[in-house]
Amino acid sequence: MADIAKLQIGEDTFEFPFVKGTENEVAIDIKTLRGATKGVITIDPGYKNTGSCKSDITFLDGEKGILRYRGYAIEDLAEKADFLEVAYSLIFGDLPSTEQLDKFYADIKAQSVVDDDIKKIIDAFPKTAHPMGVLSSLTSALTAFNPSSVNVDSEEDMYNSIVKILGKFPVLVAWTLRKKQGLPLNYGSTSLGYVENVMKMMFEKPNEEYVVNPIIKDALDKLLILHADHEQNCSTSTVRIVGSSHAGLFASLSAGISALWGPLHGGANQAVLEMLEAIKEDGGDTKKYMAKAKDKNDPFRLMGFGHRVYKNFDPRAKIIKVAADEVLKDLGIQDPILDIARGLEQEALNDPYFVDRKLYPNVDFYSGIIYRAMGIPVEMFTVMFALGRLPGWIAQWKEMRSNKEPIGRPRQIYTGENLRDFVEIEKR
Ligand code: CMC
Repeated sequence: MADIAKLQIGEDTFEFPFVKGTENEVAIDIKTLRGATKGVITIDPGYKNTGSCKSDITFLDGEKGILRYRGYAIEDLAEKADFLEVAYSLIFGDLPSTEQLDKFYADIKAQSVVDDDIKKIIDAFPKTAHPMGVLSSLTSALTAFNPSSVNVDSEEDMYNSIVKILGKFPVLVAWTLRKKQGLPLNYGSTSLGYVENVMKMMFEKPNEEYVVNPIIKDALDKLLILHADHEQNCSTSTVRIVGSSHAGLFASLSAGISALWGPLHGGANQAVLEMLEAIKEDGGDTKKYMAKAKDKNDPFRLMGFGHRVYKNFDPRAKIIKVAADEVLKDLGIQDPILDIARGLEQEALNDPYFVDRKLYPNVDFYSGIIYRAMGIPVEMFTVMFALGRLPGWIAQWKEMRSNKEPIGRPRQIYTGENLRDFVEIEKR
């Protein structure tokens, strides 16, 4: 490939260098485009062809179905690592030694108490509030209780903010669930591992000792790892762009949670389960819903299918599908929803509409089935996604701040009215 990309506009030729990644991905560096061409910009709605940054964190190849965090294959991480090790490697670049991991977890535990006044904020929400809205608000509110976390002028400041949020976020996650279920807000125990502690905080009844079920713990660990990062997706780009204005980490994360909430992004896991339930209630006729998904006059989409980047298969979906089978079998649960999901998948994989558009099951297609088997209410599914994505958001924010990236500020092509005369209100 040539070293230089050439752009011809009329008689003029402009040259731009290529940028190459370590996996040979190629981009044209157009930093000088507007200045050199005296005003020409690029336009790319949805950023389908636009790289927003260089990043060392996550590599994915959508055509080959490859996903790696810091160079480690997702299949290996899901099988051999635990969530906290993965979080450490995403944030700091390498898998930790035992000493590094122990120190990291001790620092997180030291920050795992949430100001009791946060409970007053939770109490002000109606029980019907969607947990993602509550979580986003509480995460933003943490800034008020931890103002020193906003200015991160040194690596030490950054580290302190990171362990603070890793300590407090699971408490907020658990409290959004407990509020919904009318259970007293509690704390876990620092004697437990990170994931076990989240489970205890979420599920412990006030009148029963909580015993961690190892099947559920392993499945949750795996799900959190699979969700931990996914390079420049909608919520991560949100975190980076909000953080680029030097708003604090917690405010940036709160914005990321809101972005994740939408059904085209993380909210798909809730939407998938609601769709499967609706199909079941409607007599289980998957063909009817396949037809609706293909009908361009029908807004219905097959939730949990398709991905902006994966055009072959989503490697996370492969792992989750196997995990869903195992968890349901190990817990002795027969869920008719699983049969409907399998049926839809088979039909879609053999249907030219889905095959031609390269639409395959994504990470969210089977995750809800596992969450349901764990006893997690449907409205909490996207909150679980947020818990998993937290280390990825943090890693991406840290990278953006450490690289001193400029404030994110896209341009536009204005298509509105030209200058016109102001008309007094009585004459309009
Ligand atoms: N059901 C039916 N048709 C679909 C679907 C679907 N789930 N997804 C895409 N299409 C069609 C779409 O109508 C379009 O058809 P045509 O070319 O005839 O106009 C074509 O496939 C391309 O779709 P697109 O919307 O241009 O693709 P995109 O890259 O902008 O969107 C997506 C990707 C994930 C938003 C989309 O596939 C979708 O809405 N899927 C359902 C929601 C979902 O499961 N989201 C979770 C994504 S994975 C978790 C995460 O990382 O957030």
